[in-house]
Amino acid sequence: MNPEGNLAQDTLKEVAKEVAVCTRCALHHSRKLAVPGEGPADAAIMFIGEGPGFHENEQGRPFVGAAGKFLEELLASISMKRSQVYIGNVVKCRPPSNRDPLPEELLACSGYLERQIQAINPRVIVTLGRYSMAHFLPNAKISDVHGQSMNVKGRLVIPMYHPAAALHQQSLKSTIQQDFLRLPELIAKSASLPEQVEAATQEKKDAKQLSLF
Ligand code: URA
Ligand code: SF4
Repeated sequence: MNPEGNLAQDTLKEVAKEVAVCTRCALHHSRKLAVPGEGPADAAIMFIGEGPGFHENEQGRPFVGAAGKFLEELLASISMKRSQVYIGNVVKCRPPSNRDPLPEELLACSGYLERQIQAINPRVIVTLGRYSMAHFLPNAKISDVHGQSMNVKGRLVIPMYHPAAALHQQSLKSTIQQDFLRLPELIAKSASLPEQVEAATQEKKDAKQLSLF
């Protein structure tokens, strides 16, 4: 792997080490295992969900329960495997009884997600559910923007409904299935936007430069 790839790998490992013992928010009380996320450090696509549920908390891995199985089916529908993409969450520790994460918890955890994004530098970010969407598009309404791609700081951000919500509501299920089928086209579009990737690389350089001071 090239030096930049190793650097990305190191950052992901460092974030995983930190979240395992993090006490920045109250969610550490309900944590058995933190779920930093998983996937290739040079993934072109990142999927970002909400937070660990019961099974994720037990195993320390994202999307391993029913929602995960559905996510794998959605990926299979566009001939993709989960091993090809990076999968993470906006909060790394399980909210008690799977309640929604609170604003202060999202804020406390957001720095870890940002470091992961900077390291991986994906061209495309697919957000799963409204808390993940809100990290990138704070004023968007998921019912308006699901399945559409938006340029956020040089990356394509594509909001989707959360697979767990879609599992329990047939209308959302067909919507997310249709939105996924459009992903390959949107991903292809992102490949023809080199200046945006350059902008992201510049951001990375700036960050590196900043860390020198
Ligand atoms: N739901 C999420 O949002 N994230 C997971 O990791 C699992 C289920
Ligand atoms: Fe730390 Fe995030 Fe876990 Fe809160 S959810 S304790 S900020 S790692």
